[in-house]
Amino acid sequence: MYIVFAASECTPWAKTGGLADVVGALPQALAKLGHTVSVFLPYYRQVAKLVPDAPVAVPSLTIPFPSYNRFVKILDGGLKDGVQHYFVDSPELFDRESFYATPSGDYADNAERFGLFSRAVIEATKVLGVPDVFHVHDWQVAMIAVLLRSTYFFDPVMRRVPVVLTIHNAGYQGWFPPRTIETLLLPWDMFTFTKLEQNDTLNFLKGGIVYADALTTVSQKYSEEIQTAEFGNGLEDVIRQRSGDLFGILNGVDYDEWNPATDRHIAAHYTADNLDGKKECRRDLLHAFGLQNVSDETAVIGVVSRFATQKGFDFIVTILDRLVQEDMVLLILGNGEEYYERLLSEMATRFPDKVRVQVKYDNVVAHKIEAGSDIFLMPSRYEPCGLNQIYSLKYGTVPVVRATGGLEDTIEEQAFGGGNGFKFWGYNAWDLMDALVRALGTFKNKDEWTRMMRRGMGQDFSWEKPAHEYVRVYERVIQNRS
Ligand code: ADP
Ligand code: GLC
Repeated sequence: MYIVFAASECTPWAKTGGLADVVGALPQALAKLGHTVSVFLPYYRQVAKLVPDAPVAVPSLTIPFPSYNRFVKILDGGLKDGVQHYFVDSPELFDRESFYATPSGDYADNAERFGLFSRAVIEATKVLGVPDVFHVHDWQVAMIAVLLRSTYFFDPVMRRVPVVLTIHNAGYQGWFPPRTIETLLLPWDMFTFTKLEQNDTLNFLKGGIVYADALTTVSQKYSEEIQTAEFGNGLEDVIRQRSGDLFGILNGVDYDEWNPATDRHIAAHYTADNLDGKKECRRDLLHAFGLQNVSDETAVIGVVSRFATQKGFDFIVTILDRLVQEDMVLLILGNGEEYYERLLSEMATRFPDKVRVQVKYDNVVAHKIEAGSDIFLMPSRYEPCGLNQIYSLKYGTVPVVRATGGLEDTIEEQAFGGGNGFKFWGYNAWDLMDALVRALGTFKNKDEWTRMMRRGMGQDFSWEKPAHEYVRVYERVIQNRS
């Protein structure tokens, strides 16, 4: 089977979060199963820096807009781990400081940027090879489903190609003014509540949900949650209507990248059988955060996260004065919304011996936190899957999480016996504090703690099983459309 992935992020070239990890790893797992996979990514400035001389695969494709055409090149990103990568080159739209936004807000032309990207992927495949199925990810490429079933309806080549849309995060939908329908050369009769319109905006993700042949989300629990008003962000009704075509497939993780036995970013290697190296990683981590003389009895709590409301930082802020009375240090790595960057930095200023914050995106420090922490904290308000808690399990770093989405599906509560972490259920900061108190209490019981670490380290969340599940979805949509 030939599968074309289209996404706005992909490791190792362009990453702000877990989407990039998934789009980097799932195609490799599919290739290992014998399928042919290509991945299309915008040629952002950051990608151009990493691959400055990518050869041209297609010199010019015409992408029409209402009163002008744009012309894009398709660059050959090469074959990596059995997967072909292509970059869509449109310097006027992608040669910019960041992927989506400036500190003062989203780029004003994001509809044009990702509308163009979506069309370019379709056009490119007409030259480079038509897939058996498109697998598109999140709102940025949801238009591929819309375009194929509208603008390309009479294309004899494209009309039989199905689209699978994976919803990684229903909190981001791509909302644009109504007149965007004209920018994308779509007919106004698609701007209705049953198609692309939502609260008088054009909603990219909704379009994808309506027009894709199948929908997937990144955990079973999240596939149920997004059908409710609490998590659907206004799209719950349209998602419920598609529930027969909606599949929750838990993300895998890439153990070539995230494994304490081989990780090239950490101070020492270790395994479940020999945990000695973890002590060295802990020392190295504390050093990286400028903390000395932290006793072995003190729990190191780590956080790696985008700074966004989704991630539950306000819970941490609420309990902070109480938390710092405990025998722990809290090390946070993250960046994102300015509000949280400021708030968390202030926290660190108030308790310099207990709380340290590094405001940046830094893959090496992220690996050091996974390896060097005792506890990994992820109190998300919602979490479609979450990868960091799964990485933490492999590093023997015990997760404390809110029981939502993929966190609910991957973490089993210690108090219920045989668990791999600690959970809280309420939408409430003090429930988080309770979970942390339980975790910190258990940390003092070295035997039980080591048992928990080993249980997590022994679990297997590799991509093979989810890759098989995706293949079943692809087969289903191909059959339905033939
Ligand atoms: P989300 O996709 O919602 O951000 P995930 O847990 O699925 O959450 O994935 C986050 C990914 O991004 C992980 O690989 C994590 O290590 C990485 N990450 C997040 N913030 C940072 C940061 N500031 N520096 C380095 N890596 C980060
Ligand atoms: C999104 C979600 C996260 C998920 C990731 C990869 O960014 O917020 O929970 O793990 O996508 O699917």
